Amino acid sequence: MLQLASGMSRLGTESAFEVLARAKALEAQGKSIISLSIGQPDFQTPGHIVEAAIKALKDGHHGYTPANGIPQVREAVAADLNRRHGVEVDPGNVLVVPGGKVTMFFAMLMFGEPGAEIIYPNPGFPIYESAIKFTGATAVPLPLLEENGFAFKAEQLLGLITPRTRLIILNSPANPTGGTASKEEVQKLVAGLAKHPNVTLMSDEIYSEMLYEGRQHESLLRYPEIRDQLIMLDGWSKTYAMTGWRMGYSVWPKSLIEHATRLAINCHSCVNAAAQWAGIAALTGPKDDVAKMMKAFDERRRFVVAELNKLPGVSCITPYGAFYAFPNVSGTGLKSKQLEVSLLDEAGVASIAGTSFGSYGEGYLRISYANSLENIGAAIHRMRGFLEARRKAAE
Ligand SMILES: Cc1ncc(COP(=O)(O)O)c(C=O)c1O
Repeated sequence: MLQLASGMSRLGTESAFEVLARAKALEAQGKSIISLSIGQPDFQTPGHIVEAAIKALKDGHHGYTPANGIPQVREAVAADLNRRHGVEVDPGNVLVVPGGKVTMFFAMLMFGEPGAEIIYPNPGFPIYESAIKFTGATAVPLPLLEENGFAFKAEQLLGLITPRTRLIILNSPANPTGGTASKEEVQKLVAGLAKHPNVTLMSDEIYSEMLYEGRQHESLLRYPEIRDQLIMLDGWSKTYAMTGWRMGYSVWPKSLIEHATRLAINCHSCVNAAAQWAGIAALTGPKDDVAKMMKAFDERRRFVVAELNKLPGVSCITPYGAFYAFPNVSGTGLKSKQLEVSLLDEAGVASIAGTSFGSYGEGYLRISYANSLENIGAAIHRMRGFLEARRKAAE
């Protein structure tokens, strides 16, 4: 028997990739599958960004870059954060990484070890819990409840902090719920953290430009009193439909940026050079394509929520961020995972069980509306057929 490190048995996964593989296998057998499971925009990267990468390659940007990213991209990130959040960020504190996930993994490696506690949102992005457990740290769930719009409550979060707490993870707008944190709760949290200067906060703001109905993003960067404790995660994947480019960035406190850069040097050396030039074009270029994409997402969001609420046994609160709806499916009489499997196998609709995002996701399903209105409509029709047939059979 090969002897694996113990952490490997604690490493989880992201079910979206498994559902995708199963959906592809069913399609290969000739079945028609509509995917509402994918966590990436169904849009192409805007043309001027692609052109910038091609130009970079033609101009000979083929080698290693500085591990933290070329100065121009870090300056563009700082300028973009200033434009969006009205904050000053030193480009020296910015680390460009191959995708948002890398920031979270680095943060866990930096703070996680047996005996340490890390607080994470549940339901939440599955890699948080997985990576925490991998390090041997204790994963402490912060329950995000439907009755609170799936947003955190500062008092509850502060109550979970113990002398062993090293790191708190926040995510707004959120995957899988589309929940958004309110300014009031963020302010309460920041005030409460004054008593915990040794606790680090990792704020995952990767969906910060994906908000609806005039909701404003409240970046944790806006609070100078916690800047020495804050790791802010963001990136290009969602906003610019660039998931495959593997471009993310993070802002680190002065005391941590050297450690984070050292992890980058040990792990991946640097991010693909041409992708970094594309990243600059994204941040400094026209935003019309982003606006068009958000308009389409908004239209689908309204449609999918209204339609989900008409399904038997299903109710869905309105999400104000990201591109996910998180309907309550407990009235269907099926557990989340059973419903996910049955919808895929029997109705040809790929969705993801709420439990794939943590134990508090039982009774829910994640519906990604990164698909055309037409396909979403067809998927809802199939779901209705499946649920009504079940209901009739039970009568
Ligand atoms: C909340 C959240 N954070 C981070 C990521 C990772 O993004 P990336 O593809 O840039 O690694 C995702 C991707 O689904 C996400 O949903």
